[in-house]
Amino acid sequence: MTTSLDASSIDASVITSIITHTVDELTPKNLFNFNSPRQTIVGEGSILKLGTLLQTLNVKHVLIVADEVVYQKGLLASALRCLARANIAVTVFSGIEREPSSDVVEQGVAMLAQSKADFVLGFGGGSAMDAAKAIALLGSCNASLDELTEPGFDQRRTIGLGAVPTTAGTGSEVTDISVIMHADRSKKFIAKNLDLMPDLAVIDPTLMLGLPASVTAATGIDALTHAIEAYVAHGANHLSQALAISAIKVIPHALSIAVGDGTELSARLEMAVASYSAGLSFSNSGLGLVHALSHQVGAQYGVAHGVANGILLPHVMTFNALVCRREYADIARALGATNEGMNERQQCEAGIESVRQLLSDIGLPNSFAEFGLAVEDFGELADATLQDICITTNPRRVTKTDIIQLLQQVANG
Ligand SMILES: NC(=O)c1ccc[n+]([C@@H]2O[C@H](COP(=O)([O-])OP(=O)(O)OC[C@H]3O[C@@H](n4cnc5c(N)ncnc54)[C@H](O)[C@@H]3O)[C@@H](O)[C@H]2O)c1
Ligand SMILES: [Fe+2]
Repeated sequence: MTTSLDASSIDASVITSIITHTVDELTPKNLFNFNSPRQTIVGEGSILKLGTLLQTLNVKHVLIVADEVVYQKGLLASALRCLARANIAVTVFSGIEREPSSDVVEQGVAMLAQSKADFVLGFGGGSAMDAAKAIALLGSCNASLDELTEPGFDQRRTIGLGAVPTTAGTGSEVTDISVIMHADRSKKFIAKNLDLMPDLAVIDPTLMLGLPASVTAATGIDALTHAIEAYVAHGANHLSQALAISAIKVIPHALSIAVGDGTELSARLEMAVASYSAGLSFSNSGLGLVHALSHQVGAQYGVAHGVANGILLPHVMTFNALVCRREYADIARALGATNEGMNERQQCEAGIESVRQLLSDIGLPNSFAEFGLAVEDFGELADATLQDICITTNPRRVTKTDIIQLLQQVANG
């Protein structure tokens, strides 16, 4: 004989008590946080929506923090027109150079206070967006970059923040990170703080059509490096890995086309979305040894961020392969570098080789030979790399000797 249990006959307080006890006895595990901008708009001509988007956020006055070249090329024109139509006041700070320094950020904070703007919009590559992010947060709480990078910094951003990328690379429009040079240009501040995540990202590939081939190549490889480092990072999770793989699948083809013919709008759109996905991925998982070391070499020798990453990427993959061959085999398949007969080791090696091939195809250097790395700097570079925030999520433990050996491999090719 079977008896059916009538839920209505069980006292509701008994059910509540069972659930409460069960939940109380659970130990939370395998948790991950996932953060993203509140709003993203993507597509050709999406910049024309800026005025209405900011109107809905009740913005009255925007400080646009723009890349110098982007400003001179007139790329701000449509944004300015639609902000005027929406009756939103605008102040433009167009002094952002490549890899902005702390004194430029201080100038921007002063301009923000003077203008009384209630929203900061980064407009340009990673350099302009990172400067805007730091200006919005520091301007909200009157703090310094030194304070922002100290552990336990708990001041909040009260000013709105948006980002419009004009390169497809850093993903800064979706990360909670800002990279700023020290005033003496000897090293970089790397600030990570949830309030550095923009509230709004506008991804318009038409703004990228005039990006020179060499910058397209370097910034595109930065995006690929984000995706590859994020996929194997200690902080990787299901969502960050899915985003990383989606970027890795697209980049080899789209980047080759964007470098070969910069006016190809569909390739620009694919790269812009891949860069966004890779940025969202690493902001939620961390990076690794490529970025930890490239931050140091880039600051000390003035090597563009993407160029330094490209030189280091295949060497770091070879170093890390010992502990993440399976993940590199996944990456190799996403890169389209494998065939059915290959075992995991062969897939992993084919993936690294296809990264080398892509770097060569798009004309990036495979060593720092032209930058004159000095052997006597290697020890200091290695020490600084071990202090970089990105090293903490590298999948393989790294020693000073490992880094010095790596520098010997990449110094002259
Ligand atoms: N916040 C993050 O998460 C993050 C991640 C990676 C890198 N970064 C930082 O971002 C910076 C690098 O950013 P980037 O690689 O985008 O380069 P970038 O912003 O320095 O721009 C590179 C060059 O391209 C020019 N440019 C930009 N857009 C253009 C366009 N549409 N047409 C013509 N020229 C254009 C700029 O004037 C500049 O000369 C570095 O400081 C790096 O450390 C930040
Ligand atoms: Fe990067």
